[in-house]
Amino acid sequence: MLANAAGIMPDSLKFEADRQFFERELDGVDVVVHGRHSHEQQPRSYLRRRLILTRQVPSIAADPSNEKALFWNPAGASFEQALAEFGTPDGSVGVIGGTDVFGMFLERYDVFHLTRAPGVRLPGGRPVFPEVPTRTPEEVLGCRGLDRGRHRILDPAKGLVLVSWQRSSKPD
Ligand SMILES: NC(=O)c1ccc[n+]([C@@H]2O[C@H](COP(=O)([O-])OP(=O)(O)OC[C@H]3O[C@@H](n4cnc5c(N)ncnc54)[C@H](OP(=O)(O)O)[C@@H]3O)[C@@H](O)[C@H]2O)c1
Repeated sequence: MLANAAGIMPDSLKFEADRQFFERELDGVDVVVHGRHSHEQQPRSYLRRRLILTRQVPSIAADPSNEKALFWNPAGASFEQALAEFGTPDGSVGVIGGTDVFGMFLERYDVFHLTRAPGVRLPGGRPVFPEVPTRTPEEVLGCRGLDRGRHRILDPAKGLVLVSWQRSSKPD
């Protein structure tokens, strides 16, 4: 689960080592992509270009509160069209959720960083992918062409483990 049943990421799911990793990785991407409820709220967030998924616009629209952000509705414009608005067609992209947005990009990730916190239970919460819990996140990633890659223990006391799932080859 990436959030509780109320759609909130509780403090029990927040870990300093994971936060640091997340922040460092996002500092290296050109565009952040997320649903309307998943802004990362970091100190350098204001510097990042971002695509915010919403059905409140027909296709692509400026975010009046942030000149670096665009609202994007995939029903009205492709990802490539949205990305082209930033003038970075080959830029690196960081997809940061939530559930449906993570699911939407499953065929396209070069790498998916999956951190598991084994001691946390969020009954009825928001899953990391739409197919969870029918399938485990690992099964979902595996059947979309991603392989288990580097394994990092982020916090031994809490059993916090990050596995970076890598795509070995991309379809043409
Ligand atoms: N633990 C983690 O790593 C992690 C990661 C990500 C998020 N979270 C947490 O998860 C919670 C939010 O999860 P969520 O799944 O509800 O949020 P979300 O994806 O951020 O937001 C859902 C909203 O995004 C828009 N949206 C999503 N899919 C769309 C699509 N296909 N087309 C157009 N618009 C689309 C819709 O906005 P409109 O209503 O405007 O149409 C929808 O209501 C937050 O608490 C967040 O902090 C945790």
